[in-house]
Amino acid sequence: MNPERYKLFKIVNQIWNQNDLSMNSLSHIRGQGKFRDETRWIRIGEDNLDKYKTLCILTGYSTNIKAMAEWGPGGGANAIIFKDYAQTFYGIDISSKNLSECENQLKGIYSGFRGVLIDIAKPEQVLSKIKEPVDFFLSTSVYQHFPDQSYGIEVTKLAYQLLTNNGIALIQIRYKRFAENKIEEAKLLARDYPAHLCHFTTYSIEDFWVCLEQIGFNVINVILEPKITYAYFLVNK
Ligand SMILES: C[S@@+](CC[C@H](N)C(=O)[O-])C[C@H]1O[C@@H](n2cnc3c(N)ncnc32)[C@H](O)[C@@H]1O
Repeated sequence: MNPERYKLFKIVNQIWNQNDLSMNSLSHIRGQGKFRDETRWIRIGEDNLDKYKTLCILTGYSTNIKAMAEWGPGGGANAIIFKDYAQTFYGIDISSKNLSECENQLKGIYSGFRGVLIDIAKPEQVLSKIKEPVDFFLSTSVYQHFPDQSYGIEVTKLAYQLLTNNGIALIQIRYKRFAENKIEEAKLLARDYPAHLCHFTTYSIEDFWVCLEQIGFNVINVILEPKITYAYFLVNK
């Protein structure tokens, strides 16, 4: 691997494994930082559940499913809500401390959680660690933290492989505003990850749409939140 990219991977990995208040708040840990506001924390999962239900209606998929996978579950704000819909919930993360926290949130109330710790440089490890096809793939507030665009494309290809035939996915990216110039990959790598991690990797809506279709997904709907440049892609296989 390119040594610069490898160096960046190490920084990303280290940051998400850091156990301090600012990273705990960024990891959506219940009761930490802005998530001392319990309503705000619960709303994360509830809002994503609404989008999931819309996707189920649009595709005719049942909301009660056998298995789902979330890429980057953080402190479990989605897991605490989606546990009522999936018999098994695979939480895939590079941070062992976030996976432990997610598991902790579900302790005693849900036996279907399976933490899947991956090496940041080997996201394809999920294919050997998750041995059943999943019905639903979820990733929110994660793609913007990836080291670069190609990493996000790789993860999206893995999502496709993890899904059962006709499986569905809800993937949120941060999009570039129309006026923003494209930043070259080399410049991206030279940027300071800790200072820019909330919008480190962005895509244009069109580029990500095309990328999903090239992988094999059908784009069913896209929901935009312009104030925070979030685009939610509702797709199926
Ligand atoms: C902002 S939290 C999102 C939590 C949750 N998805 C939500 O919406 O509340 C980002 C999570 O992504 C994880 N993460 C960062 N980079 C990752 C990567 N390359 N692969 C898997 N997880 C990653 C972090 O450790 C953290 O748990």
